[in-house]
Amino acid sequence: MTSRPASDVVAVVLAAGLGKRMRSRLPKVLHAVGGVPMVLRVLRAVAAAGIGRAVVVVGNGAHSVQNTIQAASEELGALRVEFAIQAEQRGTGHATMAGLAVLRGQAELGTVLVLPGDTPLLQAEQLGELLEVHRSASAAATLLTALVQDPGGYGRIVRDGDGRPLAIVEERDATAEQRRIQEVNAGVGCFERTLLERLLECCTPANAQGEIYLTDVLGSLVAEGRPVQALPARDAESVLGVNDRLSLASAEASVRRRVLARLMLAGVTVVDPATTWVDERAQIEPDTVLWPETLIEGPCRIGSGCVLGPGTHLRSSRLGPNCEVRHSVVEDSDLDAGCRVGPFSHIRPGCRLGEGVEVGNFAEVKNATVGAGTKQMHHSYIGDADVGSRVNIGAGVITVNFDGRHKHRTVIDDGAFVGCNANLVAPVRVGAGGFVAAGTTVTRPVDPDALVIGRVPQVQKTGWARRRLGREAESPVERP
Ligand code: UD1
Ligand code: CA
Repeated sequence: MTSRPASDVVAVVLAAGLGKRMRSRLPKVLHAVGGVPMVLRVLRAVAAAGIGRAVVVVGNGAHSVQNTIQAASEELGALRVEFAIQAEQRGTGHATMAGLAVLRGQAELGTVLVLPGDTPLLQAEQLGELLEVHRSASAAATLLTALVQDPGGYGRIVRDGDGRPLAIVEERDATAEQRRIQEVNAGVGCFERTLLERLLECCTPANAQGEIYLTDVLGSLVAEGRPVQALPARDAESVLGVNDRLSLASAEASVRRRVLARLMLAGVTVVDPATTWVDERAQIEPDTVLWPETLIEGPCRIGSGCVLGPGTHLRSSRLGPNCEVRHSVVEDSDLDAGCRVGPFSHIRPGCRLGEGVEVGNFAEVKNATVGAGTKQMHHSYIGDADVGSRVNIGAGVITVNFDGRHKHRTVIDDGAFVGCNANLVAPVRVGAGGFVAAGTTVTRPVDPDALVIGRVPQVQKTGWARRRLGREAESPVERP
């Protein structure tokens, strides 16, 4: 974070491009990294750097980009975001002009920080440092650069013999010698606004792509003898620009490593970081163990001493301490301390499981509250239900919640026993301590402490099986 609030700074985020190389119907900047659309990651870094104003330049998929950002306004805190339309994508310089046009008459915003919307790993601290360097050098422009092993695809920073930046040359316009330069343009730069506006007006699309390049402004500033700075990023990885699905995967791997490292240093055991994915919004308390192939998606909150995985998928859920979820899926649900789920069970959205609830093998729970200590160990479905505490749900129990048109609720009170293969046809209630015999289809309320049994009476035919075998010996039947 910067120490000084940056009240004269406005960020212009370029997010109008098509992103052809992604080969996607989704606008490039909406592709997610670490579960968060790239453009939102850039805006978060801007907000965290203490910048109060931003203009996002939209064009391709303008509505969805705008809607995504507006829907996330809460996480952007005090950052005020406006939108500018770049109807035709004529290059990064042209997009910047579109962004600045929105700010006409707001002269107090004298410093412009331009950022690409496809640079998802940018860190607030780095932006803060860039602004500091820009201010303390009273520069006309300060660009963020990076020293990289493979500069392919990036604009190269050309410096003079004294190391002063002279120009940025795009790869397609570079000579073979320039292509060997390993310092690249991150696409992020601070500019004095009036100079930037004036020089952008003079840029021409005289380059291989026929576009108006923001990068040409650097050469123009140098030609005018203005002071220009180029600051290499502390972490070269953080300037990674995503242009295709390969670089998207690199960004993802990088965020994943970062998130897992933070968790491990905070006391979470990650048995196999290569196969574990955790949303960066997730909070996990110490001494929880993540076994391989565990995916924690959305803003989950997980207490200490939990054991998750192998093969577990949690989404937007809360787990109290000492829960165990193995080979199972838990979505939008809330589990109190000491719950055990799995292997191979599914807790669907809207569940609230009390302390010590056990959901064993091949069981499904949906939109249900389940009281403390209740057990549902095998092959059963509890949906749209309120189940009390210390209830036993036998193997194969089904809440028949759907009549073909409407969903209905089932209530099972404390201490009830629901025997194997019972159907509870909702709406229906089993009173406290009620006992439903195995195989019963319950259609009417069960009184507290009562037994209900509804089965076809069992018929026994003595010796029938042996007689059948005898008949078969007389006229042999083909056995399958
Ligand atoms: C750009 C830089 C390059 C730098 C790289 C860093 C230019 C000319 N090149 O190249 O020097 O190394 O970023 O990642 O600036 N956009 C618009 N409108 C347009 C064109 C682009 O809004 O008309 C947006 C895109 O949506 C994208 C960003 O600007 O978010 C950058 O555009 P992109 O085409 O990805 O530029 P690069 O070729 O990566
Ligand atoms: Ca790019």
